[in-house]
Amino acid sequence: MVSSSSSPSATAAAVVLAVALMTTTCFHGATAQLCEDYYDSTCPDAYDIVKQVLVDAVQSDTRIFASLIRLHFHDCFVQGCDASLLLDSVPGMPSEKTSAPNNGSARGFGVVDAAKAALESACPGVVSCADILAIAAEISVELSGGPSWGVLLGRLDSKTSDFNGSLDLPEPTDNLTILQQKFSNLSLNDVDLVALSGGHTFGRVQCKFITDRLYNFSGTNMPDPTLDASYRAFLTQRCPRNGDPTALNDLDPTTPDTFDNNYYTNIEVNRGILNSDQELKSSPLAQGTTAPIVDQFAASQDDFFASFAQSMINMGNIKPLTDPSRGEVRTNCRRVN
Ligand code: HEM
Ligand SMILES: *[C@@H]1O[C@H](CO)[C@@H](O)[C@H](O)[C@H]1NC(C)=O
Ligand SMILES: *[C@@H]1O[C@H](CO)[C@@H](O)[C@H](O)[C@H]1NC(C)=O
Ligand SMILES: *[C@@H]1O[C@H](CO)[C@@H](O)[C@H](O)[C@H]1NC(C)=O
Ligand SMILES: *[C@@H]1O[C@H](CO)[C@@H](O)[C@H](O)[C@H]1NC(C)=O
Ligand SMILES: *[C@@H]1O[C@H](CO)[C@@H](O)[C@H](O)[C@H]1NC(C)=O
Repeated sequence: MVSSSSSPSATAAAVVLAVALMTTTCFHGATAQLCEDYYDSTCPDAYDIVKQVLVDAVQSDTRIFASLIRLHFHDCFVQGCDASLLLDSVPGMPSEKTSAPNNGSARGFGVVDAAKAALESACPGVVSCADILAIAAEISVELSGGPSWGVLLGRLDSKTSDFNGSLDLPEPTDNLTILQQKFSNLSLNDVDLVALSGGHTFGRVQCKFITDRLYNFSGTNMPDPTLDASYRAFLTQRCPRNGDPTALNDLDPTTPDTFDNNYYTNIEVNRGILNSDQELKSSPLAQGTTAPIVDQFAASQDDFFASFAQSMINMGNIKPLTDPSRGEVRTNCRRVN
């Protein structure tokens, strides 16, 4: 703070500083844009507070970083990044958590609650649940060996969930055309699709999402012919035909908990685990193919990291809810205030 007895030069310096702050300080209001310094004056330690909660959580849950970035994805794709995913069911408004793409699959909600509790005790009513998901996604990638980026902030939390909307989330059986439609519907292009799919460089997948590829691809009663034979043999042992549909497998068996570009090198040798993964390299000569982008990221981890960081910002910008008449900062991420 500037004291009342400041020397003229100190006062001049303070004016320069104030002008600098004004030009970088976010505008708060109905048409506000997201910005990096949104909480700099209201909750300056927000990032570090979330980081500490995550560092603690990973001690007992090696998978938590992967689970948290997926929450941000499933939040942003439904009604925009507004923490609609985090609302529990209430009469008349079923939770997105219970829809097919999330039920028994989306996880990490307790850690989000812990981050929210820590933030509420440091700066009550300030940091939105939607921003917690965006911050947690960045920290999760960075602490797993991936790129860092300046997280844009200033989202408000929704007062509604959109169960039906969450049924439109990308599905593991989707082909390239459908994936491209679902992404372009949200102003995300082919580079975003391929880069963001690289989120499958860590985390786990249940057998039920791959058994069709192993045993009955497209209703043929045969395996997916594009799946590498030895990887298929490995997966059929992990996921026998009448085995536990919830048994877990690594999305990236080469480096299961590290954020790197092995997702793409796996696809190059037909070891994409989901149909939606391998589709990114399918029909490399077809119009609209994304194969060259897969090739680029397989060849250059730097290119992947740079694109991933930009695409995470793009995904975080889906329909930002900044209008205080429609959104709020929830005090409990699971229910509206
Ligand atoms: C392109 C369309 C996508 C499809 C079809 C898809 C589908 C899936 C499926 C089926 C699972 C396994 C869930 C389970 O077994 O419970 C999964 C896990 C995961 N997905 Fe995606 N996903 C897509 C895009 C993304 C994106 C854009 C990201 C993040 C940027 C992402 C990050 C993850 C992560 C990290 C996991 C592991 C979660 C954990 O271990 O808890 N996915 N995805
Ligand atoms: C979600 O999964 C649980 C347990 O598997 C199940 O009991 C419940 O019916 C499912 N919810 C919906 C909406 O399908
Ligand atoms: C959701 O979809 C179901 C089935 O199509 C429909 O009955 C219901 O009215 C929809 N809910 C909303 C809120 O649109
Ligand atoms: C992709 O899937 C959709 C819906 O299942 C289908 O209509 C379309 O023909 C498929 N496209 C290709 C190229 O297979
Ligand atoms: C695109 O978004 C609209 C709503 O915003 C939805 O009704 C439509 O089903 C979406 N299309 C796809 C392919 O998901
Ligand atoms: C294979 O898939 C088809 C179409 O989804 C289905 O009708 C058929 O019952 C499945 N076969 C087996 C053995 O599950």
